[in-house]
This record gives sequence, C-alpha cells and structure tokens, in this order.
Amino acid sequence: MSMPEFAYIDGKVVPWDDARIHVFSAVSKAGAGVFEGLRGYWNKDEEQLYVFRMPEHMQRLEYSQKVMRFETIISAEQVTEATLELLRACNFRENVHIRPMVYVEGFDGPPSYGPIGLAVAAVVRPPAKRITEGTKAQISSWRRLPDSAMPIRVKCNANYNNNRMALMQAHADGYGSAIFLTTDGKVSEGAGMCLFIVRDGVVLTPPVTADILESITRATVIQLCQERLNREVVVRDIDRSELYAAEEVFFCGTGWEIAPVIDIDNLPVGDGKPGSVTRQVQDVYFQIVRGELPDHPEWRTPVYEARRAAAE
Ligand SMILES: Cc1ncc(COP(=O)(O)O)c(C=O)c1O
Repeated sequence: MSMPEFAYIDGKVVPWDDARIHVFSAVSKAGAGVFEGLRGYWNKDEEQLYVFRMPEHMQRLEYSQKVMRFETIISAEQVTEATLELLRACNFRENVHIRPMVYVEGFDGPPSYGPIGLAVAAVVRPPAKRITEGTKAQISSWRRLPDSAMPIRVKCNANYNNNRMALMQAHADGYGSAIFLTTDGKVSEGAGMCLFIVRDGVVLTPPVTADILESITRATVIQLCQERLNREVVVRDIDRSELYAAEEVFFCGTGWEIAPVIDIDNLPVGDGKPGSVTRQVQDVYFQIVRGELPDHPEWRTPVYEARRAAAE
C-alpha cells in the first residue's frame, strides 16, 4: 500500500513519516487508543469528496473515549476539524479511507489516563475486488470478544487483535475473510464488519446484543432496505447452520462496504455467486455514498465546500 504524503498529529498536518509517538506509550504497550474508520467518496461530476456519516462516526469516537476513561475528551467537533484539515491539505480527488485515532501517550505501569493525543491518517483506496467477485469466509475457531471481557461497542485498538487472530487463521487456511460466533455459538459478525443473510427472501441480521460493533453501515443498510428496496430487515439471533442454508450472505462495514459472501467453510452460499438482494443493496449504497441519489444529504459531509465557494 502506498502511504500518503501527510498525516495529522499534535494539532497540525505533518509529513507522513513525522507522525510519531513513543514506543513505551500506553497506546503502544496496551492498545490504549480508540479510533474510527470513515470513508470519503469522490463524486467526479460535482468535483466533491463526500465523507459518509461523519457526525455519527465522530460521536462514536467520543463515546469510545468516555468508556476508556481518557483524562480529557477530544470532542467530535475537534476531530472533524482535524480530519477536514488533513483531507484538504492532501487535496484528494479519489476515494479515501480515513482513520482518526485518539490515544494515551503516557507510560503505562498502573493504567495511565493521559496525556491524550489525536492523529488522523487518510489513505487512497481503489475499489476492492471482493465487491464485485465476493469473498470466501471461514467460521473462525476464535470467538468474538464478548462484552463481558472488553467493551465491544468501542473501537478500542486492543480489541482488534481479536480480528487479527481470526483473519490470520482464515488467510492461513486459504479464505479471504472470517465470521465470528459469540461465546454462546450464535452468529456475531465478520472480522471487522457486520453481516446480513437472506433466507427465504427475508433479510436478517444479528442483534446489537450479539457482541457486534454497533455498525453505522449496518444501520444504513437496514434503513435503505426499508426505504429503497421495500424490505423490512428482521433483527434476531442467527444460528451457524442458517449460514449454510441462506440464499445470500453479505458483509457490511465502512472498510468492507457491501461485500457478497459466496462461500462459507467451502460450502457455496446459494449458487456460489453474489445474489440479487446483495447487488440491489450495493447499487443503492454506492449511489448514496457518492451522492448520486439525493436521499439523506445529511449523511454526506462535503470536504471542499468552503474552497469551492471561495473560488466562485
Ligand atoms: C469490529 C467491527 N465490526 C463492524 C464494523 C462495521 O462498522 P461501521 O459500519 O460502523 O464501519 C467495524 C468497522 O468498520 C468493526 O471494526
């Protein structure tokens, strides 16, 4: 992956290689950081970069800091400003993946609560092959971290070793992705994304109490299914064997976008090709994020509004 020219750290935009922290900080040693993953979508006709559901991501970042008992909270507004400053400095005219991170810089003997730092990265991301071709998933033998062990609604850096374990196992075994079960054996989510299935024409997804991240994309898909596809999504526990019975399975998340799952544990999902409901969800989702459909303008934060208004 090619690295961008700039990053944001300590209140300013700096060359990428200058974004540094001490190796013995609590974020490095214990994963005492929280982060968000957002995407910016380039709309060629409007010459505009739209960040998708920015307020919702920034509010979740505030919540994450509170749960992790950070000594000071960097507000949603401050992180939004920093992110927009970086995006404008980089002058992106392509789709980007954006990662703001708030972290504990202090030395961790007993837990340290500060000082708190903010860094933001934004990386160009061309469309992933899995969007068109789909992915082969493995049901991981690693269970999804339970909320009784770590706050799974929080995007805490340390939680993400759970995903790494599942993904490394999946890759070693020849799969492209992993699906977690909860400690009770119900379907939870993918490693870094949420999951929907279609059974007998009904769209289903596990509840927020299945140790999932309260995903912004999942909420978006539920809403778009109702508003655009005329389908109510049923939220309920899903058993492992239902995954093998489903006509369609798809992942969703900011990073994964909407990705068809075409095979689970070497059993084809449906006919082993991306299904029609998944394709409909993809079509609507990608048009909405780029601003090609007018629905929900409040979901799209334009990056270059100020610059273009000034130029006119
Ligand atoms: C563990 C986990 N689950 C699900 C998701 C999907 O969440 P969202 O749609 O808010 O990006 C993410 C982040 O992308 C995640 O890190």
